[in-house]
Amino acid sequence: MDTAQAIEALFQESRRFPPPPDFAVQANAQPGIYEEAERDLEGFWASWARNLEWSKPFTKVLEWKEPFARWFYDGELNVSVNCLDRHVRAGKGEKIAYYYEGEPGDRWSITYKELLDDVCRFANGLRKLGIKRGDRVAIYMGMIPELPVAMLACTRIGAAHSVIFGGFSPDSIIDRVNDAQCVAVITGDFGRRRGSTVALKQNVDTALAQTPSVKYCIVAKRVGDPVMMKPGRDHWWSDVIAGQPTTCEPESMNAEDLLYLLYTSGTTAKPKGIKHTTGGYLTYAAMTHKLVFDLKEDRDIYWCAADIGWVTGHTYIVYGPLANCATSVIYEGTPDYPDKDRLWEIVERYKVTILYTAPTAIRTFMKWGTQYPKRHDLSSLRLLGTVGEPINPEAWMWYRENIGGGRTPVVDTWWQTETGGIMISPLPGISTLKPGSAIRPLPGIGADVVNDQGESVPLGGGGYAVLTRPWPGMLRGIWGDDKRYVETYWSRFPHLYFAGDGCRRDADGDYWFMGRIDDVMNVSGHRISTAEVESAFVGNPRVAEAAVCGKLDDITGQAIYAFVTLKSGENGSEALANELRDFVAEKLGRFTRPKYVTFTPELPKTRSGKIMRRLLRDVAEGRALGDTTTLADSAVVKDLEERAKTEIAQEDA
Ligand code: PRX
Repeated sequence: MDTAQAIEALFQESRRFPPPPDFAVQANAQPGIYEEAERDLEGFWASWARNLEWSKPFTKVLEWKEPFARWFYDGELNVSVNCLDRHVRAGKGEKIAYYYEGEPGDRWSITYKELLDDVCRFANGLRKLGIKRGDRVAIYMGMIPELPVAMLACTRIGAAHSVIFGGFSPDSIIDRVNDAQCVAVITGDFGRRRGSTVALKQNVDTALAQTPSVKYCIVAKRVGDPVMMKPGRDHWWSDVIAGQPTTCEPESMNAEDLLYLLYTSGTTAKPKGIKHTTGGYLTYAAMTHKLVFDLKEDRDIYWCAADIGWVTGHTYIVYGPLANCATSVIYEGTPDYPDKDRLWEIVERYKVTILYTAPTAIRTFMKWGTQYPKRHDLSSLRLLGTVGEPINPEAWMWYRENIGGGRTPVVDTWWQTETGGIMISPLPGISTLKPGSAIRPLPGIGADVVNDQGESVPLGGGGYAVLTRPWPGMLRGIWGDDKRYVETYWSRFPHLYFAGDGCRRDADGDYWFMGRIDDVMNVSGHRISTAEVESAFVGNPRVAEAAVCGKLDDITGQAIYAFVTLKSGENGSEALANELRDFVAEKLGRFTRPKYVTFTPELPKTRSGKIMRRLLRDVAEGRALGDTTTLADSAVVKDLEERAKTEIAQEDA
């Protein structure tokens, strides 16, 4: 099916799932909440913010100097206090914060009181090393309990963290650490993944040769095999916390102080350091977690099966759930280790009630077959969520039927690193669900679908997704680059935040997201810029030029397709294609390994020398090519089409 057919098929989707009455009566979000927000927006946001504990209460709600927002900006608070101390003080210290499931099957749990103790000890250790309020600290770890501890300890002492997903390569660490001038890196010795290990510390060592700002490296032990420890710079986690007390004076932070940076891909090769601040972000994380996941503190076991290295993990494994005193599951490894029923085994073991995962994962489970979920009792589940990419109705239905037992609402949640939290999503208990639709903007959120001129498209039509007003969780800019912030998000259309997504709205006003419309690919829910991959390719001495695009993929949503011209004297072969795939994976991280590589003596270009990307996308999708008369040499394309056919047949076999 090509894209146009897929979109049409989506609109034939007529299944409807009204909220089950027994869910609706007990839901956190009750009808009227949308109107309540619209009646008094600032009052609505302020009341959610007041659910937090402020060391200095705010009196101001919003200052909007488009496109720069400040929320609750005369107030002060500490994030770790809100996530931990206040729950312990309220007598919930014995409540389990995380059930932790290691990939090899080791498991333990940690209570709110224990987590607070760990955070205080580590925060004291960080302070003792010399890390202070206002510093930036990079965190590059696997999914181990020390990861949320490290994040929360940073918030306790007022240092901003910059978590770098553990699948990234040394080059990616260098760029991110240098851009933010981090003073420290917190890492692990090794990560565990699919029965094998990932050399985290070694990657950090490689990176730190080129990051002059870093004075300290702290290493948590997970595997125990030897690693290099550089005297003076490197410290074991256990030494950092040794002798530290379990109390630690929290910094009282202004609501607009930087909480964290999280780098994400844009349309150029340089990733953007997305800035999130303290009061608005935490308010938004807590609110959306409570409403969209209907979180009930006293009875839910909540599991977001994402990686903390991405925004989904920041907001919905760490900050939202802890602010709401939830009991969560954290799983270290992959869903197919030791067998393809690992996730369902975990659901059964902990009696998980709420599960949040990505469409790519769901499509993979579909491919594996229903025998795996059938091995386990999944009847504890009462709500399912998805995030990260468009979900096709078949995958949505499969999820509901085979994981949710045909009973549970499924919430398809649309948002971005930049938005801090979920923006467009059903509210379970209120919304009538449609497989494949993210339904509508959350209470207080303004969104629209506009055409090229920035005019609202009538219901039933499609265009660009935009956001029409500020919200507390919004990014506050790009680290060190206000200009890029304004240009990327606020310049395409006046007074509208440009999300970069294509979207249609049906006659009921429900939103159906169609994927990125810019040069950003979405592979398994990971955002990857075509420019980044192209620049990795040309970093190889044998490559003259490369053009990269996304190709629709049944499992990963999109797969990376690279068209590569070699330097003269080099010959394209399957071996070289593999070498280049590895080269890119090594430069950018394993999740960026291109699936398709086609060598071509020339890339199709216009007479003015611009690569015709639209045409390459058509070639990759096997679509009929439109007008090629503007091409400098139209024979190039015929040849390319033939080569692409061979490559696709080979890789898909
Ligand atoms: O294209 C949209 C897609 O993921 C992009 C944001 O990626 P990232 O910042 O990495 O954050 C992912 C997790 C929030 C969006 O621009 N996307 C995210 N959720 C959905 C989605 N596309 C369709 N439906 C979704 N539910």
